[in-house]
Amino acid sequence: MKHPVKTYLEKGKTYHFCTCSKSADGVLCDKSHRDTEFEPKEFVATRDSEFLLCLCKKSTCTPFCDGAHAIHEKFDLDFLTDA
Ligand code: FES
Repeated sequence: MKHPVKTYLEKGKTYHFCTCSKSADGVLCDKSHRDTEFEPKEFVATRDSEFLLCLCKKSTCTPFCDGAHAIHEKFDLDFLTDA
């Protein structure tokens, strides 16, 4: 399972969360989505801090981790979302 990635974000800076899973780090867009149907999710950091950014793409509050990866890991629910 893909665990969240601890990432330092700067307050007021705009970031683009990767939704396609093709970026090099898996969490921030590097334009690798160009040949896909995916678009990055823009967000602005609200404080200078480290955040856990979602890597499994199952969080309900992306770009941030909500623990969804652990639920899917514990109950092996990936068959529900991997179509
Ligand atoms: S690289 Fe994944 S959305 Fe841009």
